[in-house]
Amino acid sequence: MNVGDTEIIFSILRDNGYDRTESMEEADLILANTCSIRDNAEQRIHGRIGVFAQEKKRRPGILIGIVGCMAERLKDKLLETGVVDLVVGPDAYRSLPRLLDAVRPDSPQIDVLLSRDETYADIRPVRTDRNGVSAFISIMRGCNNVCSYCVVPYTRGAERSRDAHSIVREAREVFEAGYREVTLLGQNVDSYLWKSADETVNFAELLRRVAAIDPLLRVRFATSHPKDISDEVIETIASTPNICRHIHLPVQSGSTRMLELMRRKYSREWYLERVAKIRSVMPDCGLTTDVIAGFCTETEQDHADTLSLMEEVGFDWAFMFQYSERPGTLAQRHYPDDIPPEVKTRRLNEIIALQNRKSLERYRAQIGKVQEVLVEGPSRKNPADICGRASNSMMCVFPGSHPAGTYVRVRVVDCTSATLLCEEI
Ligand code: 5AD
Ligand code: SF4
Repeated sequence: MNVGDTEIIFSILRDNGYDRTESMEEADLILANTCSIRDNAEQRIHGRIGVFAQEKKRRPGILIGIVGCMAERLKDKLLETGVVDLVVGPDAYRSLPRLLDAVRPDSPQIDVLLSRDETYADIRPVRTDRNGVSAFISIMRGCNNVCSYCVVPYTRGAERSRDAHSIVREAREVFEAGYREVTLLGQNVDSYLWKSADETVNFAELLRRVAAIDPLLRVRFATSHPKDISDEVIETIASTPNICRHIHLPVQSGSTRMLELMRRKYSREWYLERVAKIRSVMPDCGLTTDVIAGFCTETEQDHADTLSLMEEVGFDWAFMFQYSERPGTLAQRHYPDDIPPEVKTRRLNEIIALQNRKSLERYRAQIGKVQEVLVEGPSRKNPADICGRASNSMMCVFPGSHPAGTYVRVRVVDCTSATLLCEEI
């Protein structure tokens, strides 16, 4: 999401005469696009601000801006550092040129207004990826689910869906520019809903429209919400060959009691039923998840329920976190952050160990199978190999010299817990 936003910011700045540099030493303006999801993400930015302070000492004329979720959350508190000249929230990027005109050493500028309708629909993002194969397309902004641990609804505002035609247009443009894969992005793509005077487009319909651009364009999406992912969406993926067979379906916890406290609006049984539905229609569908260890009041039994759910489902991969209390959230206001850090760490380590074992199992089960890989470029480890993803999102590596953007059929011959080692057929 932040990569997508960075591309929007670049586009706005480029239209106003700015150019991009990869090196901080060359920059007149340094923007840090920030994340507030966990405290450690914010701590890293505080560390970066220290680095920017050094740079500013060396070159006093430069400007420093903090943009994104931390700007929204901390607002003018960021100015107290004495280093920051600009603070711009996720819905205010169009004001960047105006703020840059107004900013002076003794007059920092701030715009953190959230919007009900900003989707940056008309902005053509400047792609920052290096492979020219895979592009992110934002389809909605904000979030209306108030998961009790989550700061996103406060930093990114209310949910709004972007004009479906502008999404299809952008996907067609990137395809024509040579890209072969788009990832449609939203906090909860299943609640995408765009209405005009004469049509209503839900997420399944949007997927169909983007996939119809060309059979050579792969369509991915993130993130799905277990409470909202519909049979229609699952069946649309199953019946459309160029929609990739991979669903990122964050479970957060395997305990219904925890899910209730988290206000996720589904139970363990509901989640397992959605997984069963996906697997009954697409046995080969990749499935990944997010898990939080040590949420408020979590007992050993709740934790055991998470482990048993992960055991039962067998995810290909997971993003696993310790609960980090975020200021202003429901959980921070109403529940005690009562799991001691060492218990959180131990539970997280158990979750990671289980997932590593499961990943290896899931990857091993691919040995002997045939996959179609979209080549992204040379492998990082061995430049004689090339790499790219299978439809199910597993990374494949194999000897060869096909250019990025080509499709290659491979057979899986071996694996690690994160890569399929293949040979071309
Ligand atoms: N603490 C830990 N993890 C969190 N996530 C969101 N908020 C928190 C928090 N306060 C995780 C969830 C979500 C992912 C993007 O980040 O698992 O799915
Ligand atoms: Fe946060 Fe829940 Fe919205 Fe995801 S769905 S962004 S976890 S509030």
